[in-house]
Amino acid sequence: MKVALVAAEMAPYAKAGGLADVIGALPAALAECGARVSVVIPGYRCALAALRTATVGGEYRVRVGNQDERFRLRSGIGPGGVAVFLIEHDGYFGRDGIYGEGGRDYPDSIARYVFFGRAAAQVLADFIRPGVVHSHDWHSAVLPIVMRADPQLHERFAGTASLFTIHNVAFQGLCDAAQFALLNIDPAYFSIDYLEFYGQINLMKGAVVMADAASTVSPTYAREISSDPAFGFGLEGVLRAKGPRFVGILNGADYSEWNPATDHRIAARFGPGDTAGKAVCAAALRERAGFDPKSRRALIGMVSRMTAQKGFDLLAAALDDLMELEVDLIVLGSGEPQFERRLRAAERTWPRRVRLSTAFDNDLAHQIQAGCDMFLMPSRFEPCGLTQMYALKYGTAPIVRATGGLADTVVEFDPSSESGNGFVFNRYERGEMIGAIGRALDIFGRPRAWKRLMANCFAADFSWSAAASRYMELYRQLRADRTR
Ligand code: ADP
Ligand code: GLC
Repeated sequence: MKVALVAAEMAPYAKAGGLADVIGALPAALAECGARVSVVIPGYRCALAALRTATVGGEYRVRVGNQDERFRLRSGIGPGGVAVFLIEHDGYFGRDGIYGEGGRDYPDSIARYVFFGRAAAQVLADFIRPGVVHSHDWHSAVLPIVMRADPQLHERFAGTASLFTIHNVAFQGLCDAAQFALLNIDPAYFSIDYLEFYGQINLMKGAVVMADAASTVSPTYAREISSDPAFGFGLEGVLRAKGPRFVGILNGADYSEWNPATDHRIAARFGPGDTAGKAVCAAALRERAGFDPKSRRALIGMVSRMTAQKGFDLLAAALDDLMELEVDLIVLGSGEPQFERRLRAAERTWPRRVRLSTAFDNDLAHQIQAGCDMFLMPSRFEPCGLTQMYALKYGTAPIVRATGGLADTVVEFDPSSESGNGFVFNRYERGEMIGAIGRALDIFGRPRAWKRLMANCFAADFSWSAAASRYMELYRQLRADRTR
C-alpha cells in the first residue's frame, strides 16, 4: 500500500500545533503497519533549514488563477525513514513564518494553499503515484478537490483513493467568491453541493464532499461536529451527509518524543517505577519560574495556543478564585492579546505563584509536562488534544472539560474504586472548572490516593499503533472501492 500524507505542518520541521505532531508521527506508525509512506509539506524556510534535502527532478509548473507558478521539489528522509517531499516556492513559502508573522496571518493564505494543493497534486501524479492520498485540514483541502474536479487529474487519479482529515473544523479555508478563479475548475463547482457556502467559498466543505471519505481526530468530536451547530461551524449537515464515510479516529501520542524515561529536555528522567526524578523536574521548573522553592502548593501547568477554543476566557475569569486555592500556575502559550494581558496582570499580582511565557519553546513544554502536578485544559472544544496525553505519560493529572478528544482520553478519578486518570468537568462554566480543580486538590492532599492516580496516569497508553491500524483498514476499504 503506497500512501501519501499531505499537510501544512510536520514536526520537527514546521510546527504551529498538534497537526505537526500528528504528521511527524503517523507516517512512521503506518510504515510499521507495512505501508510505503511519503509526506508532502510546503518548503517553508524553517523546514528547509531543519531537514537535509536534495532536489528531485527539474522545475515543475502549475497554474494558479492566470499565473504559471514554477516550483522545485526537494526530498529528505523523515522520522522512521519515511520520504518527506517539500514544495519549494520562494514567493509563497520562503518566509519567516508558517501561517503568518507577528500574530497576523499572511494576507495571501488562500493563494498559498491553493498553490500548495495544485503543486502536491502534480507531484503525486507525476512522481509519487500513491494508491491513497490522505490530506489534512483546509490547507491541503484543494488536493482532494482538484483530484476530482480537474479533468486531467481526474483521469490520472481514477484508481487513487482519497481521505480528508479534519483537525479543527473552526478553520475551514473560507474566502470570497471572487477567489474561485484561483482554482481553475469548472464554475459548476461553485454550488451548494460542492464549494459554495453562504455565498463564499469553503475549501474544507469542498474536500469533505469530494474526498472518498472524511475523518476527524476523535470519536466524540466526530459526533459533536456532525450533530451540534455550536461545534460544527456550519458543516454539520455536510458531515452528516457523508454517513459512514465520516469517522472519528483518535490520535496517538508520540512516545519517542514524549517520554519521561528518555526525555533529555527535562532535569531528570523518571517513570512509573521511579518517580524521584519528577520531584527534581518540579524543583527545576519552580526555580525557572521564580516560584518559592519551598512551596507545598500544587503546581498547575498549561501549554497551549492562547485562544477562546482552549478555554482562556474561562481561566481569565477564574484567576482570582484559583489563587484562593492552594495552587501555583505556569502557562506556556501565546495568542489573543487580551488573554496575555490578563495573565501578565496576574503575574504582577502574584509574582511567586503565576508565570506566563509567550515563547514557542519546546523545551519548556516538556519541562512543564514533567514538573507539574496537574495539567489544565478547560477547552470550549477540542478535536483531539495531544497535550493531555503527554501529561498522562509524565504522571501529571489532566484537569479537562469533557469535550472532543478530552472526553475520549480522560476519566474522572474515583477515590473509592481508585479508577480514573484525571478530573473532568462538563459545563463550560467557571464554577465547574474550579470545582474540578478543587477535587484534584482534595486528592492531592491525600498522598496515597494521589500515588494511585499517578500510577493510573502512567498506565494510560495512547501509542500511535492503534490509530495507524485503523487508518490502514480505512485505506484498504477505500482502495478496494476505487479499484473494483
Ligand atoms: P492544538 O493543535 O489545538 O494547538 P494539541 O494539544 O493537539 O493542540 O497540540 C499542541 C502542540 O503544540 C503540543 O505539542 C504542544 O506541546 C505544542 N505547543 C503549544 N503551544 C506551545 C508553545 N508555546 N511552545 C511550545 N510548544 C507548544
Ligand atoms: C488541532 C486540534 C487539536 C488536535 C490537533 C491534532 O490543532 O485543535 O485538538 O489535537 O489538531 O489533530
